[in-house]
Amino acid sequence: MSYEYIPDNPYLLLTPGPLSTSRGVRNAMLRDWCTWDADYNEGVVQDIRRRLITLASSDADAYTAVLMQGSGSFSVEACLGSAVPRNGKLLIISNGAYGKRMARIAETIGLDYTEYALTETEAPDANETAAVLDKNRDVTHVALVHCETTTGMLNPLSEIAHIVKSRGRILIADAMSSLGGIPFDAGKLGIDFLISSSNKCVQGAPGFAFIIAKRDEMAKCAGNARSLCLDMYEQWREMDESGKWRFTSPTHVVHAFSRALKELDEEGGVAARYARYTKNQRILSEGMKELGFRALLPARLQSPIITSFLYPYARFDFGEFYARMKERGFVLYPGKLSDAKTFRIGSIGAVFPEDMRRMLSAVSEVTARA
Ligand SMILES: Cc1ncc(COP(=O)(O)O)c(C=O)c1O
Repeated sequence: MSYEYIPDNPYLLLTPGPLSTSRGVRNAMLRDWCTWDADYNEGVVQDIRRRLITLASSDADAYTAVLMQGSGSFSVEACLGSAVPRNGKLLIISNGAYGKRMARIAETIGLDYTEYALTETEAPDANETAAVLDKNRDVTHVALVHCETTTGMLNPLSEIAHIVKSRGRILIADAMSSLGGIPFDAGKLGIDFLISSSNKCVQGAPGFAFIIAKRDEMAKCAGNARSLCLDMYEQWREMDESGKWRFTSPTHVVHAFSRALKELDEEGGVAARYARYTKNQRILSEGMKELGFRALLPARLQSPIITSFLYPYARFDFGEFYARMKERGFVLYPGKLSDAKTFRIGSIGAVFPEDMRRMLSAVSEVTARA
């Protein structure tokens, strides 16, 4: 994928999804498709499932994938509600809004759970996780958000995975804003269930999400679901047999996603995409620092996905800053923290170092006028 500054959208989305997509991905949505024939089920849906498995794990034979209508949260709910059996107990490691949302899901659907809760700027600790697991012997499943998009923190997935697996628990990773953009190998880490969505680092359009799971673990989920529509197992069984979705499939978005997966390959795979996102983020953080903005997180905790910046002064008006940046073609993201005034800028999507430089010029112009 190469740099193309073609202003065929009124603005660039510097947000963590929906994000800016390529022209090819958008064009893939410009016609209608039949859903019941082999062109779609075998040619597109099954192909996407196979590609997702190899994207997540070098041990492709051990894994399977299921696509699920709805946004990322629908698949988080489907996975938690279908993977944890009635006599199971979930430990949620939470240090942001998406960990907290898992706790709300567990509460709502009546899952037995406990939390290892941290503040939004603290990273989970592997030894602490081990201690929590050793104290709570009844915990059967552990859920962790890989990149906490609330702040942009990259949680220590491999250290936590090692602790969870060495203690014989099932690991559920929310890799919503990391799969496709940050290299990791689910098979090597022993991840049992991994959740992500169409509109994050694979750079598709929003509309569905998916779960990549160890085939053996998925097969154990029959009858666990607390919901008819969000039954991960039943959706998988139907899709595994025929490539069919149980209910209406978001055909346009599925085709866009198929195209997005091909573009990921053409770019050079996850390693190349990670290198681009990392470069975007470095330009962003260095440039914002020069303009007087301080990042919320120290560099060692910062992901290349999204960066939180503190308001530069108490009376900083984010609404006005946002509007002026939007006029100049850049949409930024408000903060999502409970106790600090921040805003966020994403570095993922069809966004290139040149875009970051143009965005910094706009910030410079807007703040000079403030
Ligand atoms: C890490 C993480 N988990 C879960 C979600 C929820 O996804 P959605 O907003 O698509 O429901 C998001 C959304 O940004 C996310 O970043």
